[in-house]
Amino acid sequence: MVNVVLGGFYGDEGKGKIIDYLAADADITVRYSGGNNAGHTIIVDGVKFAFHLIPSGILNKGTKAVIGNGVVVDPKVLIEEMKVVEENGYSVENLCISNKAHLIMPYHIAMDRLLEELRGNGKIGTTVRGIGPTYCDKYERSGIRVGDLLSAKFEDKVRENVARKNDIFRLYGREEFDAEEIIKEYKGYAEILKPYIMDTVILLHNAISENKKIVCEGAQATLLDIDHGSYPFVTSSSPCVGGVCTGTGIGAKYLNEVYGVVKAYSSRVGEGPYITEQKNEIGDTIRELGHEYGTTTKRPRRCGWLDAVALRYAVMINGLTGIAINHLDTIGKLDKIKLCVAYNYKGDVNMDFSTDQEYIDECEPVYEEFDGNFGDISNVKSRKDLPENAKKYLDRIEELAGAPIKFIGTGAGRENMIVE
Ligand code: IMP
Repeated sequence: MVNVVLGGFYGDEGKGKIIDYLAADADITVRYSGGNNAGHTIIVDGVKFAFHLIPSGILNKGTKAVIGNGVVVDPKVLIEEMKVVEENGYSVENLCISNKAHLIMPYHIAMDRLLEELRGNGKIGTTVRGIGPTYCDKYERSGIRVGDLLSAKFEDKVRENVARKNDIFRLYGREEFDAEEIIKEYKGYAEILKPYIMDTVILLHNAISENKKIVCEGAQATLLDIDHGSYPFVTSSSPCVGGVCTGTGIGAKYLNEVYGVVKAYSSRVGEGPYITEQKNEIGDTIRELGHEYGTTTKRPRRCGWLDAVALRYAVMINGLTGIAINHLDTIGKLDKIKLCVAYNYKGDVNMDFSTDQEYIDECEPVYEEFDGNFGDISNVKSRKDLPENAKKYLDRIEELAGAPIKFIGTGAGRENMIVE
């Protein structure tokens, strides 16, 4: 059984909560894309863990936590996270890192920063974790993979890459890198990571043949996908369902449930089109009620209404079998709630989502209004027991999205969730 949890919109939808729930009895949790640009917080026995790279399953004894080949790995960050896990009395023995995952090198981070500066007003608003430049090298075929850390060719690969990157840094008057220093630093990381590096494709396929339960853990989200998102304001990987296959080596026929996570409102960090954004008091209220500040960069998130047109697109692109809606309690604190049900493109009212900036700039969101004031719903355990106002809102979302709602977040805690 292979289930997928991925973000429906622009990330930060609270995927961690659904992943945690599914990971509780999973044999394996696996990250398939992105790197430490992601962030999720898990609270276990009162201890708060903020992971950026390590899959959630690490805290469950007996669950393997796999970093798949589609991920880009900053070994320094990974080792810091491993330390935090161990310092809190947990083990990292179940960590498995794909030998084919690409390494984020110090020059990738410097390049991310340089490129953002050069873009000026057209900046993407990246997390400056070196994600884009690492994927660039991967596709340009000069990348250094985790498995290379253990190879005799590692040193030469670093020297070659550093020489080429320094040519660029020199051109822009930036500090150059010393290959020997990087080699020394990364060899230290190799010593620590060696026991966890393996061919994770074999591991995953052995598990599939034994009918084990695997949860594929998305990072970022559908509208940040390099192909299907609002390019160029996207990340450099494939958070959509296709990324599961390429980023883990699990073929499409093995996938069972694909859950898309959204919030009962929406948010976005970084630049790019966002048709339901509320750059006003409502957006500010949502931000404060939902604590919408980045886990990774602490940036205040842009906030707005839920966009059912975009949700329908996420259902379509990912073949979602179910939707998870978080923060129903948060939106229920407002008196009135708006839901975007269509786009009005110069008088043509339709549900055709587009990532084309110029098209979206010409579109007006068409809203339906719902009554809020849901009251305290944190302990409700069944959708039918929710207040009428909440039910009406959810029913309409489901009708427009074209996929069933399977999870409803009713509060901050792990236990504040309705599972249908
Ligand atoms: P990058 O992934 O750091 O290259 O950033 C590219 C875009 O994706 C920026 O707009 C980031 O803010 C956004 N982004 C990357 N990771 C996340 C995430 O985990 N949640 C939300 N937005 C993200």
